[in-house]
Amino acid sequence: MAEDYQGLELTTESAAAAAAYSHCLRGYMGYQTDVGAHLKATLAADGDMPMALITRGYFFHLFSIPALERKAAESARSAQAAIAARGATQREHWHLAALQAWNVGDMAGATDWWEQILLHHPHDVMAVRLSHFTHFYLHGGGAMRQSSNRILPAWDENRPDYGFILGISAFSHEEAGDYAAAAAAGKRAVEINPKDIWATHAVAHVYEMQGRQDEGIAWLDGLSGQWAALNNFRFHTWWHKAMYHLEKAQHDTVLDLYDRQFWAEPSEEYLDFTNAAAMLWRLDYRGVDVGQRWSVLADVAERHNRDAILAFADAHYMMALAKDGRQAAAQAMLDNLAETAQGKGDQARVTAAVGLPVCRATLALCQGKAGEAADILLPLRDHIWRLGGSHAQRDVWAQMICRSLLEAGRFEDARGLLAQRTAMKNNSPMSWRWYAEALDGCGDSAGAAAARQNAA
Ligand SMILES: [Fe+2]
Repeated sequence: MAEDYQGLELTTESAAAAAAYSHCLRGYMGYQTDVGAHLKATLAADGDMPMALITRGYFFHLFSIPALERKAAESARSAQAAIAARGATQREHWHLAALQAWNVGDMAGATDWWEQILLHHPHDVMAVRLSHFTHFYLHGGGAMRQSSNRILPAWDENRPDYGFILGISAFSHEEAGDYAAAAAAGKRAVEINPKDIWATHAVAHVYEMQGRQDEGIAWLDGLSGQWAALNNFRFHTWWHKAMYHLEKAQHDTVLDLYDRQFWAEPSEEYLDFTNAAAMLWRLDYRGVDVGQRWSVLADVAERHNRDAILAFADAHYMMALAKDGRQAAAQAMLDNLAETAQGKGDQARVTAAVGLPVCRATLALCQGKAGEAADILLPLRDHIWRLGGSHAQRDVWAQMICRSLLEAGRFEDARGLLAQRTAMKNNSPMSWRWYAEALDGCGDSAGAAAARQNAA
């Protein structure tokens, strides 16, 4: 039996297929653009290799596009037929079960299978990356860190791609709030491999969360030359650089990064879209004229308003539709999400509890109904995390909640949330200005003056 580059058995007679599959795995870990080509080469060498067929199904899901969901189901059927014909290892059977769970919208069930695999095979890099991904969208930093802590003792510096595992550990620590551990692991991973963009990004998050904008800019400037050959995740890393400049009120630089780096061309990739929409939303709050950029995003969003695969992505599509006044497309999206919310699967539950109300509030805000938005959003303030994404990404909704309260004149509510916000990140001038607005509204002019001084 053949093995992958980590020494895990693959059910194939073809050494060429096993070698190509190893390139595919390494490319996937490294955010390379040739992952699909390596998978095609694997299937060209052995069209019935179970792990290759299962991996094809996984990759279809990662796009979060309805047409590709159907192809993922086809891949699972092909893998099942191949396994029936030639057999498979226990690990491959578990992978098939994970894909089948994902195919019916049970991301948590799929994650359980990957975690089961990792208890027995901690070097299964596909299970490592996919569970990291789904924990990120379903369970948050604590689960990510528990997952990476379970496998780390099985890895060491001599094993290929150890750095990528460190990068995963780094981001897990960051989302779990241990910034020192995150920075240490992330920086070591980047020493091992300066092209390790996930580890680079983990350290960028540390600087973001700690409000260390200048260090963040220097960190990314020093590494951005490494990303030219990497996939679209590099756009998200450029977005992080723009986030630092945004906090420094360097709006021209933010727009330049938007136009030249992370939204240089319209993209159908949901992560690219979320970068762009969330940045424009933030710029609007700072009174920056973003020109026709919302309209360009709304054209893309109109093609995705019935996706309903990832609630996190849907909430961003709605931002563009609402901002650009695409009332019909926005209403169609709400109707479709209401239907999705009745369905089965993790994302249906998230849509029902958080995604749909957040989209309703987003539309209400853009229609000038701040009170309606505030009524929806305030009770959700401790539940937004269920949308998935990072703390940094979800902060756009924390801002949205505060702003809707201020615009609705609900200053007492806003005062509490802004006190919370300024306590967590006390060098954000915008948060202090908003806090001052709330305090003024509450009649506390001395407190407002002090907050304004902090802003300055
Ligand atoms: Fe990020």
